[in-house]
Amino acid sequence: MDKPVIIIGAGGHARVLYDCLCLLGVEVLGALDKCYPKGDRTSRIPILGNDSTIHAYATDAVELVNGIGSVGDTSLRAAIYNKFKKLGYSFRTVVHPAATMARDCDLSEGVQVMAGVVVNTGVKISADSIINTGAIVDHDCFIGRHVHIAPGCTISGGVNVGDGAHLGVGATVIQGVDIGRNVLVGAGAVVLKDVLADMKVAGVPAKVI
Ligand SMILES: CC(C)(COP(=O)(O)OP(=O)(O)OC[C@H]1O[C@@H](n2cnc3c(N)ncnc32)[C@H](O)[C@@H]1OP(=O)(O)O)[C@@H](O)C(=O)NCCC(=O)NCCS
Repeated sequence: MDKPVIIIGAGGHARVLYDCLCLLGVEVLGALDKCYPKGDRTSRIPILGNDSTIHAYATDAVELVNGIGSVGDTSLRAAIYNKFKKLGYSFRTVVHPAATMARDCDLSEGVQVMAGVVVNTGVKISADSIINTGAIVDHDCFIGRHVHIAPGCTISGGVNVGDGAHLGVGATVIQGVDIGRNVLVGAGAVVLKDVLADMKVAGVPAKVI
């Protein structure tokens, strides 16, 4: 039996997740977000309170969904995931009904796969990573923890993406490339060779900026 869900955050990414959870028929109790007063509905998700409101819910009574997005730096999202895991809560894995998933893809806790995504055979996606709207992750890729593959990215076969990396909207990565931990790939970049950890690359072909 599905547990009801609480979304952490009530910004843009959280609202996309809320819509997806409603489509899936999942009961959403509301969101925790200190930027909105309790009971507020301007974000369209009912606001339950701020992060400390979570203590009103037993760890085994609810599941969480990480509603923190990222436009480059994935560290806040990772910090939120780790904070609530430490408190004993679990994160729901969310796959939009309009995503196309290979039978054998392996999704860890808290992974989020949005509308129009294609994930091909042999792919592993680690905890708390987002595969955002319309992205393609082709065969045998490994995606680390807290990664954000932004809308419209195309990741060819056999690519490794390290923990905390952000691949900007519309980026393309050719087959077999290794992208290191916490790498930031700019919007629209075409990545043709390995990128070392903590680098920021952009352009066609992608170069360090
Ligand atoms: C790569 C990125 C993080 C750089 O941001 P920044 O560090 O603030 O860099 P700036 O905007 O100051 O730009 C620095 C230089 O890089 C260039 N540049 C920035 N982003 C670029 C990109 N995506 N492709 C090519 N060049 C880029 C700028 O034109 C600028 O060049 P200049 O010095 O010759 O004028 C950002 O532009 C980007 O692409 N973010 C991804 C956003 C995203 O994926 N959003 C998804 C939300 S769901």
